[in-house]
Amino acid sequence: MRTLIVDASTYRFTTKPNPTVGAMIVNEEKVLCTGFHTKYGCNHAEVECLNQLDSKNLSAEDKKKLSLLVTLEPCCHHGKTPPCTDEIIKSGIKNVIVGSLDPNPLMSGKGIQVLRDAGINVKTDVLSNEVKKANYSFFFKHKNNRPFICIKIAMSNDGMSHSLNGSSTWITSKKSRDDVQSLRANYDAIVTGGNTVRDDNPRMNARVSYDVNQPRRIVITREKNWDMKMNFFRDNNFEIVNSCQLDEFIKSFQDRDTCSLLIEAGPKLVNSFLDAGLCDQFVIYKSNRDLGQNSVPWFENKNALIKKGFKLKARSYIESDVKEVYTI
Ligand SMILES: NC(=O)c1ccc[n+]([C@@H]2O[C@H](COP(=O)([O-])OP(=O)(O)OC[C@H]3O[C@@H](n4cnc5c(N)ncnc54)[C@H](OP(=O)(O)O)[C@@H]3O)[C@@H](O)[C@H]2O)c1
Repeated sequence: MRTLIVDASTYRFTTKPNPTVGAMIVNEEKVLCTGFHTKYGCNHAEVECLNQLDSKNLSAEDKKKLSLLVTLEPCCHHGKTPPCTDEIIKSGIKNVIVGSLDPNPLMSGKGIQVLRDAGINVKTDVLSNEVKKANYSFFFKHKNNRPFICIKIAMSNDGMSHSLNGSSTWITSKKSRDDVQSLRANYDAIVTGGNTVRDDNPRMNARVSYDVNQPRRIVITREKNWDMKMNFFRDNNFEIVNSCQLDEFIKSFQDRDTCSLLIEAGPKLVNSFLDAGLCDQFVIYKSNRDLGQNSVPWFENKNALIKKGFKLKARSYIESDVKEVYTI
């Protein structure tokens, strides 16, 4: 089961916002087949695995002796694909071992019950902490009824965000900016403010060398007439949210499958999120270069994050830059 969880998580960039799931069919100690959920909207792991079993031409009696291991509780509802529980029942397998229950309170335990009602032996929660760690934001979303929120900023040595005259200069090194691309690849959506879109004309996608289900780009703004030729609006993977109420904005995700948000904005929107208590993790890429007097500071006070209750969780060095991760 442990290997299955690890192997399944290699697909995390293409399954998100879905969780990563792996399944395996074993005959006593012998592995007959494995399957993974590899891409959002595609087959679930159990179905991938059961499809391979078909080619083994086993008798109904042989199938009764098999066990299906699956990292997350099989679904019993019609979503983008039919219920996995139907496929498991049809397969004739009589033993199912589940890594963790589905954290969605509307689903949790229901898939297990459907299988038990069909006469299948089910053992569950055999490695729930590992499954939870591998699908952190998915479990977070269902526990807290909102997405996991990370704010990321680049900061000069003297605590600045950008120069007052609007001249666009990189604060951190190319290597740090590449690290930001990898950070973005983990998130379901990137959120920014109107000024950043106006001033920087950013692309705000994850430019990495592997396949990624690209984060949705969301701009929060009062502006209704945006120039659709700007980079931010270049394809359909964006949203314009015409509201400045961050609580409402975050509540709007309750019924969506977005599990994680990366806030990448200037000091105004970043501080609004902080003041509203809407931040679970704060990442700073800090350069050793000063921006000087004619620039805009990130915070009014020194040690603003510590004063808000954040604690330094990790510090690493990227060439001459420092990357710090704070959690609350
Ligand atoms: N160093 C970095 O890491 C970094 C990152 C991103 C941006 N920047 C720089 O930051 C500059 C812009 O910063 P900024 O602070 O002026 O703007 P910002 O935070 O990017 O955006 C502020 C805008 O967001 C919208 N907004 C909606 N709800 C809001 C709320 N509750 N609180 C605050 N804003 C809300 C409004 O847009 P409307 O005015 O459209 O209504 C507001 O004017 C850019 O020049 C960019 O270069 C730096």
